[in-house]
Amino acid sequence: MVGVKNLLSGAWLLAYGAFSRSASTASGSHSAASPTSSGKYTQFTIPASAEAGAQLIANIDDPEAVDAQSVCPGYKASNVKESARGVTATLTLAGKPCNVYGTDVDSLDFSIEYLANDRLSVQIVPTYLDSSNYSWFMLDEHVVPRSISDRQASKQDSDLEIAWSNEPSFYFKVTRKATGDAIFDTTDSVLVFENQFVEFVTSLPKDYNLYGIGEHIQQLRLLNNLTLTLYASDISDPIDDNVYGSHPFYLDTRYYEVNDKGHHTLVASDKAAQSKDYVSFSHGVFSRNAHGQEVVMNPEGLKWRSLGGSIDLTFYSGPSQAGVTKNYQLSTIGLPALQQYFTFGFHQCRWGYNNWTELEEVVSNFEKFEIPLETIWSDIDYMHGYRDFDNDQHRYPYSDGEKFLDKLHSSGRHYIPIIDAAIYIPNPKNASDTYDTYTRGHQEDVFLKNPDGSEYIGAVWPGYTVFPDWHNPKTGDFWANEIVIWHKKVAIDGIWIDMNEVSSFCTGSCGSGNLRMNPTHPAFALPGEPGNVIYDYPEGFELSNKTEAASASAASFSQAATATTGGSTSSSTSYLRTTPTPGVRNINYPPYVINHDQDGHDLSSHAVSPNATHSDGVQEYDVHNLFGHQILNATYHALLKVDEKKRPFVIGRSTFAGSGKWAGHWGGDNASRWAYMFFSIPQALSFSLFGIPMFGVDACGFNGNTDEELCNRWMQLSAFFPFYRNHNTLSAISQEPYIWESVTAATKSAMKIRYAILPYFYTLFHEAHTTGSTVMRALAWEFPTDPSLAAVDTQFLLGPSIMVVPVLAPHATSVRGVFPGLKHGEVWYDWYTQTAVDAKPGVNTTIPAPLGHIPVFVRGGSVVPMQEPALTTKEARGTPWSLLVALGGSGTATGQLYLDDGESNAPDDTLDVTFSVKESSLSARAKGSWEELNPLATVTVLGVSTRPDAVKLNGIPVPASGVQYNATSRVLSVGGLQKLTRKGAFSADWALKW
Ligand SMILES: *[C@@H]1O[C@H](CO)[C@@H](O)[C@H](O)[C@H]1NC(C)=O
Ligand SMILES: *[C@@H]1O[C@H](CO)[C@@H](O)[C@H](O)[C@H]1NC(C)=O
Repeated sequence: MVGVKNLLSGAWLLAYGAFSRSASTASGSHSAASPTSSGKYTQFTIPASAEAGAQLIANIDDPEAVDAQSVCPGYKASNVKESARGVTATLTLAGKPCNVYGTDVDSLDFSIEYLANDRLSVQIVPTYLDSSNYSWFMLDEHVVPRSISDRQASKQDSDLEIAWSNEPSFYFKVTRKATGDAIFDTTDSVLVFENQFVEFVTSLPKDYNLYGIGEHIQQLRLLNNLTLTLYASDISDPIDDNVYGSHPFYLDTRYYEVNDKGHHTLVASDKAAQSKDYVSFSHGVFSRNAHGQEVVMNPEGLKWRSLGGSIDLTFYSGPSQAGVTKNYQLSTIGLPALQQYFTFGFHQCRWGYNNWTELEEVVSNFEKFEIPLETIWSDIDYMHGYRDFDNDQHRYPYSDGEKFLDKLHSSGRHYIPIIDAAIYIPNPKNASDTYDTYTRGHQEDVFLKNPDGSEYIGAVWPGYTVFPDWHNPKTGDFWANEIVIWHKKVAIDGIWIDMNEVSSFCTGSCGSGNLRMNPTHPAFALPGEPGNVIYDYPEGFELSNKTEAASASAASFSQAATATTGGSTSSSTSYLRTTPTPGVRNINYPPYVINHDQDGHDLSSHAVSPNATHSDGVQEYDVHNLFGHQILNATYHALLKVDEKKRPFVIGRSTFAGSGKWAGHWGGDNASRWAYMFFSIPQALSFSLFGIPMFGVDACGFNGNTDEELCNRWMQLSAFFPFYRNHNTLSAISQEPYIWESVTAATKSAMKIRYAILPYFYTLFHEAHTTGSTVMRALAWEFPTDPSLAAVDTQFLLGPSIMVVPVLAPHATSVRGVFPGLKHGEVWYDWYTQTAVDAKPGVNTTIPAPLGHIPVFVRGGSVVPMQEPALTTKEARGTPWSLLVALGGSGTATGQLYLDDGESNAPDDTLDVTFSVKESSLSARAKGSWEELNPLATVTVLGVSTRPDAVKLNGIPVPASGVQYNATSRVLSVGGLQKLTRKGAFSADWALKW
C-alpha cells in the first residue's frame, strides 16, 4: 500500500538536521526522541523534507535538452561474418563522440541470431566489457535469461528476414517474409550507445496497434503520443506514468487486405471496412534490459531509451497474438506458476482490520449473509510496529491466532498476510527493542550497503529499515528461514509482497546515524489522521447522495485550506544538468533523466537510491527494476521450504518480465473511482501479455471512499478476473460486499457464476501454466480478422468461451457492446436467458444492464465444465458436475477440463477430459489417473433447433422426467444423470445423444 504523499501539518515538523543526499555520508544532527511526563517516548516523525527529491528537471522538461538523434554520429559496421544461423559484425563510432548523456562506446559487437524460425535475436553489446572507460553492466542471465535457441533455425526457413546497411550510418531492418513488411526499422536514425544512455529508434506504420510496455495504468492499445517510463515506483496508480513493475515487451498487430495475387496491403484498423475481410499478423518485441527506461511513442514510431545495459532484442513472429505470447513465455521469460484451486475463490482484505476478533467478525458476516469467502487477508495492521514476521501481541497474539486459524482452516478457508520488503533496524541503544529478524540478517550480512560498506538505511513503515540484498547468495536462505520460523507461529496460506519497488520513504541512507530515533512515524499523515481525513467519493456521488457529497466536499475544502505545505520543498525550477565525465558514471544524477514520476524525477526519491550497493558490487542503479522480481522468486522458494509439496501462492506488487513463474499481481493502490474500474480491464489484458495471468485489482477501489453503486458494479466485474479481492484503505468507509443490501445481492449473483465455472477457470490456468496461453483475453486476440476490435478494452473474454460486457459508468441501466464474429457465423448466448443474442455484425449493441446485473455471454462452439456454486471452493469441488454446451452455427462445440488435487506442486494424479459435440452427440473422453468421484448431474445444450425424440447416455435412454426442451429459447436441459454416472462424471468415456 501507499505511495500517496500527503500534506503534513506544521506541528509534525520537528527540528531536524539536513538530510544528506550522499548516502555514504548521511548523518542527521537531530536530537533523539524524548520521554514525555508519562514516561512514554514520543514518536519521532521523519520530516517530509527527507523525501524531497533533488531540484532536478528531467531532460524531457528542459528546453535546452539536446536531442541525441541530432548530434550523435552513429556507427559503421565492419568485420561482417555471415552464417546460416546469423551475422556478427563490429560497430565502430562513425564520427566524433557526441558524449551527450554519457561516454560514447567506440566499439560494439553486433549480432543477429535466428533462435528459431519464429524467433530472432538482435544484440548490441560493448566490445570491451571490462574496459574501465565504461564501467559496464550486463544483465545476469541467471536473473533474466536470454531467449533460448532451438539450434534448428536458419535464415532461409525463418519467418523473418533482417537486413542492415552503413549508409548514411549503421541501421537494420527486420522484415516479415510473408507480407514483405518491415516490422522493425531503424533507417534514418542513429544508434546512440553511451555508458549511461542507450537509444534506438524504429519507425512504425501510421496508426499502429501496439500493446504492452508496462506497467502503466492506461488503455489497452498504446497511444502514439506518450512517453512510457519503466522504473519501479511506489505510487498510487497515476494514469500513464510509471508504476510498480517493468515489462519491456510489446505486441504489434497489423491488419492487411490481401488481393487475388496474394499481395498484402496494410490497413489502418480504424479505417477498415466492416464489409471486408482482413488478415492480421502479430509480432512481439522483448527488450531484455532492466535499467530505467523510457519509450517515447510518436505517430511515426518509437524511440527506446535506457540508462544503461545493452541492446538485446528478441522478435517473435507469431503470427497470432497467442503464438507470440506463448513463444515469449516458453522461450524467454518462463510459464506462469500453477495456482492452487482455492486461490480462485473470493478474497477479502482491508487496511484497518484491527485484531483477530475483527477478522473473525468479518468472516462470520460473510457466513451470515451467505456470501462466498475463501480467504481473509491482513494488511500491515497485524504487525508489531510494522515489522515483518512479528505479530502485535496485543491485537494479533499468536495464541489467539492459532485458534482463529484452526477454525478458519477447518471451514475450508484461508489466511494471507502482507509482508513488506524492508526490514526494521532497531535503535542499538535501546536494549528493549531488539528485533531478531534484523539480528539474524545482520549476522549473515545480507542487507544492501552504502558505497562505504555500511548498511544502507532507508525508512519505511516501521521507521528506519534495511533491505535484503538479493545478489548475496545467502539472502534467499535468510528470507526463507524467517518465513519458516514465522509460519510455525502463524499458519499462513500464501504471501502478499508489498513495497518491493523497492520503496523507501526518504531519500538516500537517511537512517545512517539516526537510529536512536527509531521507531518513527512516516513523513506523511496516515489516512484518517488529522490533515488526511478521507473525503473522496466516486464520480457521480454528488448525484446519488447530494447531501453527503456536499458536506464531504466542504470538509475536504477546509482540510485543504488548513494544511500547510510540508511535502515537496522543491519549488524552484533550477535545472540540475549533469555534464558527463568521461569514463565515470554519475549514478545518483545520471546525465539523462527519465520521466520518472517521483519528486523531481529523482531516481532516489521514494525508493532505495541508485548508489545502494549489492554484495557483488553491483549498484542499485543497474538493477532497481529487478528488486521486486527477486523478492518474489525468494518468497516463492521460501514457501516451498515451508511445504515442498504445495504450490506457493504469492501476490506481488513490483514485477518484472518473468515474475509470473512465481507470483500473481494485483493492480496496486487504485482508487474508488469509475475510471479505475475501467482501467482494471486493460491492466489485466496487458498482464496477460506479460505472462502474469493471476491478476486482479482491489474491487470497489482502495484509496478514497467507495459508494454503493460503484461497489455493486465492481464486485460483479471483478468476479470474472482471475484474482478476485476486495481491499480498502485505512479509515475509508467499509466496503465488504455485505455492507449494502444491493451489493450483497449483486455479489452473490456474480459469484454464483464464478463459483460454478471454477473448473473452467482452473482448466484455463493449467493451460496457461503448460502452454503460455492467456486467461483474460482481448477481443482482438480471439477475432484476429476484425480490425474494428483492435482497441476494444471495455469488454473482454475469459478464455475462449465467456465474454463479459460490464457497465463502467455511473447511473447507467444499459451498456453498449459488440458481438464479435457474427459475420462469420459466430453465435453468442446470453448467460442468464440461455438464448442466442440477436445482434448485427460490427454494431455497438445496447444491452440492458440494470444495477446488479452484469452482462455475460457464452460463445457458440463451447462446452463449459461446471460444478455447483458454494460458499467455499472446497465445498464447490464436492458437488455434482454439469456441462453447459453452447452450440456453434454448425451445431458443433468443444471444451476441455483439467483436474488434480488442486494443491500439489507436481500432482501424481491428473485428469484431462476432452468434450466434443457433433451431430447431436456430446462425447467426453478422459485421460489420466485422477479419480473424480462426483457424478454428472446436468447437461444443458443451448441452440438446439428441434425437440429431440429421445436422449440417450451411452445408448441408454435418459428418463423422460429429466429431459426438458424449450422451443422458444431452444434450450435442451438433461437432468437426472447422477444415477447413470454414480462412479463419477468422467470415470469412463461416454456419449450423450439427443
Ligand atoms: C494523445 O492522443 C490522445 C488520443 O488521440 C488524445 O486524446 C490526447 O489529447 C493526446 N495527447 C497529447 C499530449 O497530445
Ligand atoms: C478489536 O478491534 C475492534 C475495532 O477496533 C475493537 O472495537 C475491539 O474492542 C477490539 N477487540 C479486542 C479483543 O481487542
